[in-house]
Amino acid sequence: QQTYDFVIAANRLPVDRHVHPDGSTEWRTAPGGLVTAMDSVMRGWESGAAWVGWAGFPGEAPEPFDDGKLRLHPVPLSGKELSDYYEGFSNDTLWPLYHDVIVAPTFHRSWFTCYRTINQRFADAVCEVAAEGAQVWIHDYQLQLVPAMVRDQRPDLRIGWFNHIPFPPVELFAQLPWRATVLRGLLGADFLGFQRPDDARNFARSCRAVLGATTKGDKVEWAGADDGRLGAAPRTVRAAAVPISIDASGFRELADSPEVQARAEEIRESLGDPDVVLLGVDRLDYTKGIRHRLRAIGELFEDGEISPDQVTFVQVATPSRERVEAYRTLREQIEGMVGRINGDVSHLGATAVHYLHQSYGREEMAALFQVADVMLVTPLRDGMNLVAKEYVTARHDGGGALVLSEFTGAAEEMPQAYRCNPHDIAGLKETILQAIRDEPAEKERRMRGLRRRVRKHDVQTWAQDFLAGLAAAPEKPGRGG
Ligand code: G6P
Repeated sequence: QQTYDFVIAANRLPVDRHVHPDGSTEWRTAPGGLVTAMDSVMRGWESGAAWVGWAGFPGEAPEPFDDGKLRLHPVPLSGKELSDYYEGFSNDTLWPLYHDVIVAPTFHRSWFTCYRTINQRFADAVCEVAAEGAQVWIHDYQLQLVPAMVRDQRPDLRIGWFNHIPFPPVELFAQLPWRATVLRGLLGADFLGFQRPDDARNFARSCRAVLGATTKGDKVEWAGADDGRLGAAPRTVRAAAVPISIDASGFRELADSPEVQARAEEIRESLGDPDVVLLGVDRLDYTKGIRHRLRAIGELFEDGEISPDQVTFVQVATPSRERVEAYRTLREQIEGMVGRINGDVSHLGATAVHYLHQSYGREEMAALFQVADVMLVTPLRDGMNLVAKEYVTARHDGGGALVLSEFTGAAEEMPQAYRCNPHDIAGLKETILQAIRDEPAEKERRMRGLRRRVRKHDVQTWAQDFLAGLAAAPEKPGRGG
């Protein structure tokens, strides 16, 4: 068994295996912001590294294999485990709980039992491939027990964890029946990274309230417990904000390519060359505020503030977690709204809303961004939102405008955006109109500031900041084990 000095653990590998109806298979880039960001970090990585994760389908896992310089270590998940650990505990308990309980989280003891089992499986896989003294970077809410589980077996490792989604206020986190176990799992790390300072503070407050830990600056100290359960040893851990970003130069290059530019022309023409294209691009998720956005846009059309002869709205909603009830309901609601708006205000040759329930590659996204005069990023809650960062990076032609919800991590770094509260439909309508109608010079000024911020703080600086935090973590790892 070959071992590596750098090991990543995330629920998904950077690629997903799709099995077609005819039995043929294909590897595709896995969905979501985590993979988008980490994949570009790892592409620039010089030495060997291993990535431990699920291959995207139930059943036996493929053998470990190389993908460029990366060694991919698939972790198997059975159909039942997928439904309890992934769809259940990760996406029907933690996801809504960590996103302001926009829908009510479901608590099932059997889901948590399975979550613990799968976290142990990931931890064992990490320990198997990690060289003596290696750095381990664990990702996201699906793997919160892995830090302590790895530390139990391998105190020689330096362990970091990064949360791509928000960490909830203690008033919400406290609902979780397994809150103490989750915190003890996380405190197994040396360094914990969060998207916003508020997320790091929420975590520290939860440690104080739930575990009786003490905090000083960004350090959390917990005295440990005498119960022999997970993470019982005393710990000092740093928890700080390290906001994630995108591969800005790579994305800009892609957006500038003649292929993308030509495709953008084609898209604009196929839309009937409207005066204004509004665009939304999201996983089909209730956190993204798609219904609020549709409500605002529908009213703007109905009020006659905008007309389908001049303005069209394109919504790309990437299929996601379709076996979870809340996602199926959401899809029906969105499709009902789109149908209603189009039925009421479109006419032949002038479609108000173009709705695409499909997933597209980076090229098509970059082309769509070129076409979008106003980009609508209106989540009710979002850890960061990398679409906002991709959009401003793709638009260094000076055109475009970004409407951005104040409930995204991105809002904190992107003050020049047209800021909105998506719950305030009247305010959202006004903000959209302002973004359409403002003088080009004003829009350009805003876009310049936004672009500069993303260029200076790209995904490479994010990874460097995280790894510097990990290296400087207060506790030196013990030897042996
Ligand atoms: C978000 C999460 C990721 C997740 C992605 C896609 O970006 O932070 O951990 O992978 O959504 O969701 P999925 O459930 O398809 O992996």
